[in-house]
Amino acid sequence: MSRSARGAESIPSLAALQQRGVPIVMITAYDYPGGRIAEQAGADIVLVGDSAANTVLGYATTREISVDELLVLTRAVRRAVRNIPIVGDLPFGSYESSDELAVASARRFVDEAGCDAVKLEGAGDMLPRVRAIVAAGIPVIGHVGLLPQSVTTPDGYRARGREVEQALAIVADASALEEAGCAAVVVEAVPSEIGTLIAERLTVPVIGIGAGSATDGQVLVYHDLLGYGEGRQAKFVRRYAAAHELFVDAVQRWAIDVRSRSFPNADEGYGIDPVALEEVRRRL
Ligand code: KIV
Repeated sequence: MSRSARGAESIPSLAALQQRGVPIVMITAYDYPGGRIAEQAGADIVLVGDSAANTVLGYATTREISVDELLVLTRAVRRAVRNIPIVGDLPFGSYESSDELAVASARRFVDEAGCDAVKLEGAGDMLPRVRAIVAAGIPVIGHVGLLPQSVTTPDGYRARGREVEQALAIVADASALEEAGCAAVVVEAVPSEIGTLIAERLTVPVIGIGAGSATDGQVLVYHDLLGYGEGRQAKFVRRYAAAHELFVDAVQRWAIDVRSRSFPNADEGYGIDPVALEEVRRRL
């Protein structure tokens, strides 16, 4: 799929919502039905997050998903999402080591999957990467606070910025990402007050996930809000459905019907003209 970034027009639509004080709704999606659901439900922007590593591919951490794996999912979402921007998440190892690698990876998400922007984690050494991708004409969304790509142990998913120095560093990182040219910044798992301080300081939209209610928008992982999956949820997740239980129940009921031969019934199959059937029988 070759589709040039609509980013230049589409990411500012987030800024327009921010200016009108309308909270931005960002949700992740990883496949065609998920993309259709996100758009039909009225989301403003879809992130094809590297959280796909956990939610869809069953890896233990987000560090294990590759660009090629994420591109397959991103293309499916792009086929589904027609009228709102989609953001490709640059996975671990696809941008950190050089500006050239960062730009090449970002270009793949735009050229091969039709993304309107890319997201990457961290500030500091990543600021030149942001500048390089922006200079290449691709909008970038930053990500501060809890950075899942840096987490290597289960206890690493705790909140960030609860101590003074770490909180100051996160606020400074968010500002530095804005200065480097980010079109928006995601802030993950920080005290609500720190989320508020960041939103007050930045002029670009700040999209929170576990960062309180004062940010310019919220993002949640599709599988988390739908209850589509098992395991412990982060404190900031609100579940709006119990998809896993719903689906297990449906498949269980179908299995019972198969085993009792009540599936399929006469209406759930195809008929044949009795004369034709007789002829088939005769010639066997
Ligand atoms: O990959 C992802 O889903 C994310 C969100 C948690 C913001 O980065």
